[in-house]
Amino acid sequence: MTMGYFQDKVVFVTGGSRGMGFAIAKKFAENGAKTAICARDADSLQRAEYELRKISPQIIAFPADIADARSVKYGIEQINAAFGPIDILVNNAGIYRPGKIMDTSLSEWENQLAINLKGPFLVTQAVAPQMMERRSGRIIFISSMLAIVSLPGNACYTATKWGLEGFIGCIAQELCEYGIVVHTIRPGMTDTSIFDEIGKPDMEIDWIDPAEIANTVDFLCRLPAHAQVPEITYTNTFQRFNY
Ligand SMILES: NC(=O)c1ccc[n+]([C@@H]2O[C@H](COP(=O)([O-])OP(=O)(O)OC[C@H]3O[C@@H](n4cnc5c(N)ncnc54)[C@H](OP(=O)(O)O)[C@@H]3O)[C@@H](O)[C@H]2O)c1
Repeated sequence: MTMGYFQDKVVFVTGGSRGMGFAIAKKFAENGAKTAICARDADSLQRAEYELRKISPQIIAFPADIADARSVKYGIEQINAAFGPIDILVNNAGIYRPGKIMDTSLSEWENQLAINLKGPFLVTQAVAPQMMERRSGRIIFISSMLAIVSLPGNACYTATKWGLEGFIGCIAQELCEYGIVVHTIRPGMTDTSIFDEIGKPDMEIDWIDPAEIANTVDFLCRLPAHAQVPEITYTNTFQRFNY
């Protein structure tokens, strides 16, 4: 059994099958947490579960679409049944579909909003009561540099992340009354599978490694409950020029 700082803490990482979510889940598993992940694609979820189980037996991986309320509810019931109430929630799952306004279809607009904005709402609303009841918990949101940087070709994605940050600001104040700490991380361009479908941008970038974002989550989760660190912007050289 893996021993560590998060021994027996129950952690739920949405979108834990690939990219940052997988790196975050791995870091928690290495530190003894009971780690639950979800994603839509069963194959990549299975591969992730296999890798995580090499580190710890205390892993559950279940297919869920965070944009679907029933799927979220069912998934959280599975976590509770296996591990008990959730201590740390990482709202990580998201998609990135760049496109200028005239190239953005209504269905693409609605899909990005559903996953990047409605998803974290549904998951947070489903998990928060068990933290409120115990008057403790931590919720991390993975936003983006693009929440605060306006670039052509990113209107929809930026709208989802900007909207997400407005949502986070309000609920952070609501939930702090219950001893729940909320943090936002805004990564810059990170070397993950998010670019698999759309292709990596043709520019010289000093890419962020997903493990760096996992280390940032780890850092935040070790802070005392009184420490309010609302957000961390973790960018790379290129985007700092635009910031
Ligand atoms: N990579 C970057 O440069 C970058 C920069 C700033 C912010 N971010 C943000 O970081 C987060 C993670 O991105 P990433 O780069 O690690 O992406 P990624 O490599 O594409 O991984 C995304 C993960 O989310 C899951 N996911 C997507 N839609 C989902 C849904 N509806 N329900 C459940 N799971 C879902 C994916 O699995 P399935 O597809 O199988 O569902 C996958 O596990 C996102 O919120 C993204 O917006 C990324």
